[in-house]
Amino acid sequence: MRLLIVDDSRSSLALIGSIVKEAVMGEIALCLNPLEALGWCDERQYDLVIVDHVMPEMDGVAFTAALRARPAYRTVPIIMVTSDNDRVVRIEAIKAGATDFLHKPFDPIELQARVANLLALRQAQVELADRAQWLAREVERATAHLLAREEEIIYRLARAIEYRDGDTGEHVSRVALISQLIGEGIGLPPERCRMIYLAAPLHDIGKIGIADAILSKPGRLTPEEMAIMREHVSIGARILERGSSDLIRTAELIAQSHHEKWDGTGYPDRLSGTDIPIEARIVALADVFDALCSERPYKPAWPIEKAYAEIVRCSGTHFDPQCVAAFRGKWPQICDLMQSHAPAQAIGA
Ligand SMILES: [Fe+2]
Repeated sequence: MRLLIVDDSRSSLALIGSIVKEAVMGEIALCLNPLEALGWCDERQYDLVIVDHVMPEMDGVAFTAALRARPAYRTVPIIMVTSDNDRVVRIEAIKAGATDFLHKPFDPIELQARVANLLALRQAQVELADRAQWLAREVERATAHLLAREEEIIYRLARAIEYRDGDTGEHVSRVALISQLIGEGIGLPPERCRMIYLAAPLHDIGKIGIADAILSKPGRLTPEEMAIMREHVSIGARILERGSSDLIRTAELIAQSHHEKWDGTGYPDRLSGTDIPIEARIVALADVFDALCSERPYKPAWPIEKAYAEIVRCSGTHFDPQCVAAFRGKWPQICDLMQSHAPAQAIGA
């Protein structure tokens, strides 16, 4: 505990210092000038301040107010020493933030008792603040750990769905990364881009409910099979419905609407324009682009420049023009990504 005594009278300063010294274990600093004392307070943390009321450079009330304006001194006990019982001065001092008063001449026992009590209070404050900080850090760490586990489980679930769909899991990684880049290009806040990145891998989770004969059919689907295949969006939304986290709620939006088209010709609800959630508009583009770049049983992988041209061509029909503009703006990063996460061979190829 560190104690600071501020008094313009050298004799008063020495007297208070000697009385307090008998009761306090710790450092006691004595200062004749309140302005200088404020400078000391800026340089180090004191745990109790005793200040005289009447001083030429700055009175005790102004000193107290100046000290209380400093965040590090909002709760530090301040004792003001006054020569009389002037009610106005006491009210001003209380308004400025004084914790307690002492009247001259002092009773040494009373002074020691007040100082000891206020230092005990300060000690408890410091311990409480330390404990609160420690708890906040622990909660932060535990929350981050929980989030990381949720993200990992979702990612592994998405990869499992990919394997069933005949891919190696890299498609979901690329769709997630491209979606995040598009979100950034649109100017969405970083935390929303991160949410889209995490939720995008679940866009096709509904394929888990589609029969293998359709899901793994080598060749184009018949219209009847296509109708069944399209059910993967509503199955996915049902799997994810009423989620308790933002991540699952975002994943539900994406699963439900990633096959909607900007011009209203998509499925399942034929939503158009901004009626389609932005998260789904973004993932729709990333999903189609990556599918074009990947080999499928019914088509070879397209060169990325050809897939890029197709995305641009479909701006305003299939895709949100704003998403396409962001996609174009992020093209160098998307090219790098497609090289570092190269599309895998299709099943049966
Ligand atoms: Fe899909």
